[in-house]
Amino acid sequence: MPDFKAQVFVCATVDAEVDGRHCGSKGGSEIRAKFNRQIVEHGLISTAAVNGVGCTSQHGLCAQEECSVIVIGPKAEMGATWYVISPDDVDEIITEHLIGGRVVERLVNKERAVKFS
Ligand code: FES
Repeated sequence: MPDFKAQVFVCATVDAEVDGRHCGSKGGSEIRAKFNRQIVEHGLISTAAVNGVGCTSQHGLCAQEECSVIVIGPKAEMGATWYVISPDDVDEIITEHLIGGRVVERLVNKERAVKFS
Protein backbone atom coordinates (compact mmCIF):
# COMPACT_ATOMS: atom_id res chain seq x y z
CA MET A 1 0.00 0.00 0.00
CA PRO A 2 1.52 3.37 -0.98
CA ASP A 3 2.21 5.87 1.80
CA PHE A 4 0.82 8.98 0.14
CA LYS A 5 2.07 12.33 1.46
CA ALA A 6 0.09 14.40 -1.05
CA GLN A 7 -3.10 14.20 -3.06
CA VAL A 8 -3.73 16.21 -6.23
CA PHE A 9 -7.36 16.70 -7.21
CA VAL A 10 -7.84 17.97 -10.76
CA CYS A 11 -11.25 19.20 -11.86
CA ALA A 12 -12.15 17.62 -15.19
CA THR A 13 -15.83 18.51 -15.23
CA VAL A 14 -17.36 19.02 -18.66
CA ASP A 15 -20.68 20.80 -18.64
CA ALA A 16 -20.75 22.64 -21.93
CA GLU A 17 -24.53 22.52 -22.04
CA VAL A 18 -24.62 24.91 -19.09
CA ASP A 19 -22.05 27.52 -20.04
CA GLY A 20 -18.87 25.97 -21.45
CA ARG A 21 -16.75 27.48 -18.69
CA HIS A 22 -16.03 24.21 -16.92
CA CYS A 23 -12.51 22.89 -16.38
CA GLY A 24 -12.76 19.81 -18.57
CA SER A 25 -13.31 22.12 -21.52
CA LYS A 26 -10.35 24.27 -20.52
CA GLY A 27 -7.38 21.96 -20.14
CA GLY A 28 -8.48 19.76 -17.23
CA SER A 29 -7.78 16.48 -19.01
CA GLU A 30 -4.36 17.64 -20.23
CA ILE A 31 -3.46 18.89 -16.76
CA ARG A 32 -4.44 15.58 -15.15
CA ALA A 33 -2.47 13.60 -17.75
CA LYS A 34 0.56 15.86 -17.27
CA PHE A 35 0.44 15.40 -13.48
CA ASN A 36 0.27 11.62 -13.95
CA ARG A 37 3.28 11.61 -16.32
CA GLN A 38 5.42 13.93 -14.24
CA ILE A 39 4.69 12.18 -10.95
CA VAL A 40 6.14 9.04 -12.50
CA GLU A 41 9.10 10.94 -14.02
CA HIS A 42 9.92 12.55 -10.64
CA GLY A 43 9.72 9.24 -8.76
CA LEU A 44 6.69 10.31 -6.71
CA ILE A 45 4.42 7.45 -7.69
CA SER A 46 4.32 5.97 -4.16
CA THR A 47 3.96 9.32 -2.33
CA ALA A 48 1.63 11.46 -4.48
CA ALA A 49 -1.74 10.50 -5.94
CA VAL A 50 -3.64 12.26 -8.73
CA ASN A 51 -7.41 12.07 -8.96
CA GLY A 52 -10.06 13.65 -11.13
CA VAL A 53 -12.87 15.40 -9.26
CA GLY A 54 -16.08 17.21 -10.01
CA CYS A 55 -16.63 20.95 -9.93
CA THR A 56 -15.08 22.75 -6.97
CA SER A 57 -16.87 26.02 -7.81
CA GLN A 58 -13.68 27.77 -8.90
CA HIS A 59 -14.32 27.58 -12.64
CA GLY A 60 -15.59 31.17 -12.78
CA LEU A 61 -12.02 32.24 -11.99
CA CYS A 62 -10.38 30.14 -14.68
CA ALA A 63 -9.45 31.74 -18.00
CA GLN A 64 -9.40 29.70 -21.20
CA GLU A 65 -6.82 26.86 -20.92
CA GLU A 66 -6.92 27.00 -17.09
CA CYS A 67 -8.37 24.54 -14.60
CA SER A 68 -8.96 24.27 -10.86
CA VAL A 69 -6.65 22.01 -8.87
CA ILE A 70 -6.55 21.26 -5.14
CA VAL A 71 -3.34 19.93 -3.60
CA ILE A 72 -3.45 18.41 -0.10
CA GLY A 73 -0.14 18.07 1.69
CA PRO A 74 2.68 17.07 1.51
CA LYS A 75 2.99 18.56 5.01
CA ALA A 76 0.01 18.58 7.38
CA GLU A 77 0.44 22.29 8.06
CA MET A 78 0.08 23.03 4.34
CA GLY A 79 -3.51 21.84 4.49
CA ALA A 80 -5.31 22.00 1.16
CA THR A 81 -4.18 24.59 -1.38
CA TRP A 82 -6.63 25.64 -4.09
CA TYR A 83 -4.95 26.53 -7.38
CA VAL A 84 -6.10 27.79 -10.78
CA ILE A 85 -3.51 26.60 -13.33
CA SER A 86 -2.74 25.94 -16.98
CA PRO A 87 -0.90 22.86 -18.30
CA ASP A 88 2.31 24.95 -18.36
CA ASP A 89 2.13 25.31 -14.55
CA VAL A 90 2.13 21.58 -13.72
CA ASP A 91 5.93 21.28 -13.55
CA GLU A 92 6.16 24.18 -11.10
CA ILE A 93 3.48 22.68 -8.83
CA ILE A 94 5.38 19.39 -8.83
CA THR A 95 8.82 20.82 -8.13
CA GLU A 96 7.83 23.64 -5.77
CA HIS A 97 4.80 22.25 -3.94
CA LEU A 98 5.03 18.46 -4.01
CA ILE A 99 8.83 18.17 -3.83
CA GLY A 100 9.86 21.47 -2.23
CA GLY A 101 6.93 21.83 0.19
CA ARG A 102 6.37 25.47 -0.85
CA VAL A 103 3.03 26.89 -2.01
CA VAL A 104 3.17 28.56 -5.46
CA GLU A 105 1.52 31.79 -4.33
CA ARG A 106 1.00 33.31 -7.79
CA LEU A 107 -1.36 30.45 -8.73
CA VAL A 108 -3.39 30.28 -5.50
CA ASN A 109 -7.08 31.07 -5.32
CA LYS A 110 -6.66 33.24 -2.22
CA GLU A 111 -10.32 32.99 -1.29
CA ARG A 112 -10.08 29.24 -0.76
CA ALA A 113 -7.85 27.28 1.61
CA VAL A 114 -8.20 24.62 4.28
CA LYS A 115 -5.62 24.48 7.06
CA PHE A 116 -5.22 21.38 9.19
CA SER A 117 -3.33 23.00 12.11
S1 FES B 1 -15.91 22.91 -13.45
FE1 FES B 1 -13.97 22.94 -12.50
S2 FES B 1 -14.22 24.22 -10.81
FE2 FES B 1 -16.18 24.14 -11.71
